[in-house]
Amino acid sequence: MRNARLTLDPAFTVAPVPRRLFGSFVEHMGRCVYTGIFEPDHPTADEDGFRTDVLELTKELGPTVVRYPGGNFVSGFDWEDSVGPREARPRRIDRAWRSVETNQFGLAEFDAWARKVGTEPMMAVNLGTRGMQDACNLLEYSNHTAGTKYSDLRIAHGAKDPFGIKLWCLGNELDGPWQTGHKTAHEYGRLAAETGRAMRQIDPDIELVAVGSSSRSMPTFGAWESTVLELAYDTVDYVSLHAYYQEDDDTKDAGSFLASAVDMDLFIEQVVATADAVRARGKHSKFINLSFDEWNVWYQTRPHHGPGVEPWDVAPRVIEDEYSVTDAVVVGTLLNSLLRHSDRVTIGAQAQLVNVIGLLRSEPGGDAWKQSIAHPFEQVRRLASGTVLRVASTSDTYATERFGDVDVVDSSATYDEETQTLSLFLANRDLEDSATVTVDLRGFDVSRVVTAKVLAATDGQDRHTTNASGAHDQVGLRPLQDATVTDGVATIVLPALSWAAVQISA
Ligand code: AHR
Repeated sequence: MRNARLTLDPAFTVAPVPRRLFGSFVEHMGRCVYTGIFEPDHPTADEDGFRTDVLELTKELGPTVVRYPGGNFVSGFDWEDSVGPREARPRRIDRAWRSVETNQFGLAEFDAWARKVGTEPMMAVNLGTRGMQDACNLLEYSNHTAGTKYSDLRIAHGAKDPFGIKLWCLGNELDGPWQTGHKTAHEYGRLAAETGRAMRQIDPDIELVAVGSSSRSMPTFGAWESTVLELAYDTVDYVSLHAYYQEDDDTKDAGSFLASAVDMDLFIEQVVATADAVRARGKHSKFINLSFDEWNVWYQTRPHHGPGVEPWDVAPRVIEDEYSVTDAVVVGTLLNSLLRHSDRVTIGAQAQLVNVIGLLRSEPGGDAWKQSIAHPFEQVRRLASGTVLRVASTSDTYATERFGDVDVVDSSATYDEETQTLSLFLANRDLEDSATVTVDLRGFDVSRVVTAKVLAATDGQDRHTTNASGAHDQVGLRPLQDATVTDGVATIVLPALSWAAVQISA
């Protein structure tokens, strides 16, 4: 048995829970849009061609914000192709994913879909092959009321009301040599500053995200953020971070994979330090917050394409990773990392929503289901409420190849003063042993466990079990029996390799 001791106090707070932390991402990539959220011929399709089975699952997940339309896709995207009468929209080459984009789903469809889901859109502009004028045209089309070329075009296309999009990404991963229109930090910083400034002249209320590093391992990491923010500090509100984690299929180093949140913690703290150094040098008063707008488990070393995929297919099977119990535990710890840093990370988007490294999966003409990684996302989005607490934690450790000794138990916590409810999110990273977590919560007037759910392999399963097609409900949440509170101290026993959500109330 492994052990951890956590101490919580109402006075030890991080920040109010940022609702935008629980976002997702829809890219025109593989089958995320086509046969993911949009499939007019599907038996469940509604009048807009949206799959209502996927829509209902999305509503259950409840992403608070959804980034769109890419991703690498956006760096070659001409948004004008995706608006107006569908029959007149051109089929175009999508260089990023070597597929064909039919443009049957575009801006108006995304706006309608986001409204049905009840989520906030986060729109990326193309700063790869295009620039300031096109970004401004898109903003005018989306947000200007009427009486100008692009707002009237939107109205002529049937959308009388503006989309009213507040959150805008100034391009995508332009630090990456794979990106169409890849730039140096200086080239990008100038372009972001001038594009952002021009966009603000059209709509002063928008919030702008500058492209940060595509991962902490980029050779330009740190220097990129520093230069870009030197050039664009006054214009932008956020800098982005992207990170994908995987267990190495060759070394099978599960311990390091389970400790991925250590890397995410470091990444966030290093970007905060860099942004704050620019703030100090530039004598700026505002802070730049962080938008972790792509993160997930992604097995990048596995085949990129599914069987039978040819270049220039429409909606090919691309990176349709199937997620296991282990992956779900890692996702739980990554959510913990975001919550731990919620004073500065105020936007998050788990990439992507469906099929492409998806929280959800769907089959063309067939059914739709939640992958294992959807469960921690959904629970944290539902239960994290009020204020994020600073958790003082001592835990048994385990040795990892990549990160040295790492805590066996990873945690985060929130407290909702209104409902007097504490929410704890806990992961046991030990592959063999259960862990007893003792939580000192004497500073709170709480005494009763109201929810205790756990995700772990059950009898007959192992840590690689997935919710594969045809066996959709193998990995899910079940009640956690071993959670009690006595005299202000909670005792929670987590099975080996598990993730749990526990709510304790007055
Ligand atoms: O989410 C998949 C891809 O990963 C995105 O298109 C890109 O931004 C990132 O490299």
